[in-house]
Amino acid sequence: MLLEDLKHTLSYDGYAIVNYRYFRDYGTGFSCGEDEALVQLQDSYDLLPVDPYSSARYRTYTRFLVTSPNPLHVESCENASYIQSYAANDIDGARERKFPPITAAALSNKLLVGLLKADAEIMSDYFGLTSFYIGIHQVRYKTSIRSPSFSSPIWLHRDDEALVFVHLINTSPGLVGGTNVIARDQKTLVDVVELTNPLDTLILTRNLLHCVTPMGCKNAYNQASRDIFLVTFEERKCIVT
Ligand SMILES: [Fe+2]
Repeated sequence: MLLEDLKHTLSYDGYAIVNYRYFRDYGTGFSCGEDEALVQLQDSYDLLPVDPYSSARYRTYTRFLVTSPNPLHVESCENASYIQSYAANDIDGARERKFPPITAAALSNKLLVGLLKADAEIMSDYFGLTSFYIGIHQVRYKTSIRSPSFSSPIWLHRDDEALVFVHLINTSPGLVGGTNVIARDQKTLVDVVELTNPLDTLILTRNLLHCVTPMGCKNAYNQASRDIFLVTFEERKCIVT
């Protein structure tokens, strides 16, 4: 999919499903299932701290000011707190959440750097901006028998951020759920999306509602997980260092 086609799809449909090949071909050096950087990135999820606001997830979060999308140049944001409106999240909205930052090792991973370059270019093209803030959430949904994992908020909602990238990094074999749902309103479904391969990506605008279905674990397995990066276009200002 070309950048121009992607922009049109986002504007016309309100969301886009992007095959992993787009990000592989962007220059990450990624080849499905073979690349050392992918294995390192997948392994980094084992080290994630538990989400301070829900034991159903493991999570880190970092914000950057993009000062140039191509070549990508970013500056760190000092304040890594995350705030959503109550309208966007009736569980955790209207309060400040502070997450541990993404590790330097993960941020230097060439696959993640490639994803961020591709995302920044898409954001720059979509909004016609060369400087903007991005948020990066590294999230593991971890579930065990009778202990589901889930996103916050759980059901259909509209994010505050004007563009959100859901990059799949890994799913374990025993996982049930973790399917993305797109809807026009609470009664009108538009699409049900299964991200399958590492780097398969869903891009969301604020034109539609979305959610990811809660996750469980097949009986034959004791636990299961779904690992993603959420990369968000943020309009909120921050102090850069
Ligand atoms: Fe969301």
